[in-house]
Amino acid sequence: MIDVAAASEVAAGATMRIEVENFEICIARDSDGAIHAIDDLCTHGEVSLAEGDVEGCAIECWLHGSQFDLNSGQALTPPAFEPVAVYDCKEIAGRILIDPHTTLN
Ligand code: FES
Repeated sequence: MIDVAAASEVAAGATMRIEVENFEICIARDSDGAIHAIDDLCTHGEVSLAEGDVEGCAIECWLHGSQFDLNSGQALTPPAFEPVAVYDCKEIAGRILIDPHTTLN
């Protein structure tokens, strides 16, 4: 896994956009404090999901409002229908680690 950030850099309800090995990834911490890593690009358009808002365990695309489940990657509301990839992501010893080659969905 690749160390991408300090855990303290992503507060509850916050996001961070990172690039690792040519993958554009959105890190998000849900309202319960769990960390997630998903594809940064909305499946409806070329828009960064890291610029959207975290609501509970979902992230809302700022452009047209589709919400994506941070655990499953599923599009919960239109106009997006396709899921985003969810990457293996862990928080260990105050660091956020991601494996961009392992998707969980
Ligand atoms: S670009 Fe994200 S919902 Fe349209």
